[in-house]
Amino acid sequence: MQERAPAEAVLLVGGKGTRLRPVTVNTPKPMVPAAGVPFLTHQLARLRAAGVEHVVMATSYLAEVFEPHFGDGAALGLHLEYVTETEPLGTGGAIRNVASRLSSGPDEPVLVFNGDILTGLDVRALLDGHTGSGADVSLHLTRVTDPRAYGLVPTDDTGRVTAFLEKPQAPEEIVTDQINAGAYVFRRSVIDAIPDGRPVSVERETFPELLAAGAHLHGMVDSTYWLDLGTPQAFVRGSADLVLGRAPSPAVPGRRGECLILDGAEVARDAKLTGGTAVGTGVVIGPGARIEGSTLLNGSVVGPGARIRGSMVGAAARVGANSVLDSAVVGDSAVIGADNELRGGIRVWCGARIGDGSLRFSSDQ
Ligand code: GTP
Repeated sequence: MQERAPAEAVLLVGGKGTRLRPVTVNTPKPMVPAAGVPFLTHQLARLRAAGVEHVVMATSYLAEVFEPHFGDGAALGLHLEYVTETEPLGTGGAIRNVASRLSSGPDEPVLVFNGDILTGLDVRALLDGHTGSGADVSLHLTRVTDPRAYGLVPTDDTGRVTAFLEKPQAPEEIVTDQINAGAYVFRRSVIDAIPDGRPVSVERETFPELLAAGAHLHGMVDSTYWLDLGTPQAFVRGSADLVLGRAPSPAVPGRRGECLILDGAEVARDAKLTGGTAVGTGVVIGPGARIEGSTLLNGSVVGPGARIRGSMVGAAARVGANSVLDSAVVGDSAVIGADNELRGGIRVWCGARIGDGSLRFSSDQ
């Protein structure tokens, strides 16, 4: 049998990450550390493990930070290229904008990935399914328990996509629990046919138009690990799942377990770190602190007796003694004084200062 050339991949990493702010004020979403390394590292390592060699990154928001970190990709065994949009072109426009860097022939498959999905997707199976079905575009679909927040993608018995439905408003509109999981295989010629030089949404424009024109769009549904890291709570959960070993990645820098502590962190002997907590370089954690399922970015400081759960503490941010954080996000360099209580999805902006005993969700007595 003739050995197939490895497929090339496009990574969409140019979004503004608005749902994740203030985490994305200084850092684009794919570069925010998850389990100790920029999230994108996990995706790149998984692609390499699947046999991909050439990856083109479609960048826009804070585009300048990607190349200094990943360079030409040699350290990961990849050949990386970067293409920056002058104006954000949306998901479809971004794919079209990198077409000149692809070397695949018109009928060959090109992988395309959203840059914010943590998944155990079998990339080779997606490619093989694409080739086997002869589809123009193949989509990874995942099943969710509550499909109301998503566009739905029903398929027929053979896996052929029958519709792209907007977020369902009424119960009778929930015709499937399958949603677009943000990983695709395009026939190269389909990429070349996307309009050039203007914003295009692949989800709202390209796919529905292709379907209406009679193109063959194929869905591959599976039940592997899948999480969209678009919100702070999801991002923190994804990082914890990587540390715990529930989410697969060859790039976690250490053994799987209750916590991951990077070199150069100082953790008090009696501090308790559980639930997949990730502790970055230069972090200092004081005596008696209890931290569960949380992400502490480089250089942050947690005072004695603080309790932190399902939260993210930004780079160089400080959490004062005995403060409580539960589902909270603290932006880079923010300072939370002692004896505060922050809960319920609260977002503290980068550089903000909250004095001692200033915020509570319960009585202090
Ligand atoms: P939100 O603003 O929170 O919705 O996040 P986002 O900006 O990442 O948007 P969304 O999650 O819908 O994007 C899906 C994927 O496409 C992500 O990996 C984004 O980085 C990427 N993306 C979105 N818009 C653009 C764009 O205009 N250009 C490029 N290059 N990538 C984009």
